[in-house]
Amino acid sequence: MILLVKSGGEKSLPEWQAGFREFAPHLDVRYWTDPSVDPKDVRYVVVWEPEPGRLASMPNLRLICSSAAGVEHIIADPEWPRHLTIVRMGGEETAQRMSEFVCLGVLSLLRDMKRVITLQAAREWDSFEVSRCAWDTRVGVMGLGNLGTDAALRLRGLGFPTAGWSRSRKQIEGVDCHAGEDELPAFLAQTDILVSLLPNTPATAGLLNRERLSLLRPGGGVVNAGRGSHIVQPDLIALLDSGHLSGAFLDVFETEPLPADDPAWTHPKIILTPHIGSSASRRARARYVAEVIAAFERGDPLPNVFDPVAGY
Ligand SMILES: NC(=O)c1ccc[n+]([C@@H]2O[C@H](COP(=O)([O-])OP(=O)(O)OC[C@H]3O[C@@H](n4cnc5c(N)ncnc54)[C@H](OP(=O)(O)O)[C@@H]3O)[C@@H](O)[C@H]2O)c1
Repeated sequence: MILLVKSGGEKSLPEWQAGFREFAPHLDVRYWTDPSVDPKDVRYVVVWEPEPGRLASMPNLRLICSSAAGVEHIIADPEWPRHLTIVRMGGEETAQRMSEFVCLGVLSLLRDMKRVITLQAAREWDSFEVSRCAWDTRVGVMGLGNLGTDAALRLRGLGFPTAGWSRSRKQIEGVDCHAGEDELPAFLAQTDILVSLLPNTPATAGLLNRERLSLLRPGGGVVNAGRGSHIVQPDLIALLDSGHLSGAFLDVFETEPLPADDPAWTHPKIILTPHIGSSASRRARARYVAEVIAAFERGDPLPNVFDPVAGY
């Protein structure tokens, strides 16, 4: 039974094969470009950016696993087989790594690490004081799915009063949960540091515009590890320049790789990273996919199924 992989390049195949040997030894794991594979024999795929029409050319494909949490790289293919289920990447390690990253971002804003980095580059010894600590800094997490829920709990554990916002209402111990567009303004107005872990959908595109970002508490900041489409970047930069916001920690951008002339590269209040928030090891991803396939073969419900109507 063939599982075809397109993620990490052909050089990553031995790692994928080792992972599946451990967790699903019955699968014959091959790389996407293997010329000896007959498309009729492919049952499962783990993919990142499959080229248009290729999935549709596999008549016996049963399940599509995205090698990442987002699926826009699959549904961009106008011919993606809509009768098949797409499962988004999940699992504990993805959440662990994202929570580490989000805590890094929030703590960097709290302790003004951009200023520290700038001072170091200038060889300036300026022992500046930070006026607040986590207890005085309200964090708001947008998106309370696999990643947002874990991140909110870790931030709460660090001492931040933590709130969250999602489409449907959640109950998370110690986290003040808000839901739906009606509750968004109040959620933003009580937030010092906003974390976005939303998916990329028509409803989340451009959500964080000037009007909404202006609702954040004065001196606030933004961590975006969801998707670049959530934030209207010129609006964010205008609020950083006006002093209403004090900093941003950005991992994702509307255009990636970020163009060399993008103002975010050199902005004095922005720390940026090249979409490295969370990517679990291949072993962890193989384990997750193996569990998904086992559930699929038993006829059990699957986790993290993409809903084309909701868009995530
Ligand atoms: N930077 C990186 O390296 C990296 C790595 C992995 C993932 N990501 C990003 O993180 C995103 C989240 O991943 P996940 O696994 O946590 O996804 P998930 O489990 O699907 O959770 C998505 C959350 O967003 C909420 N949401 C969706 N649309 C909304 C809307 N219009 N209004 C309010 N809330 C909305 C959902 O609400 P409900 O709970 O009500 O459904 C859910 O709580 C991914 O889609 C991807 O874009 C980035």
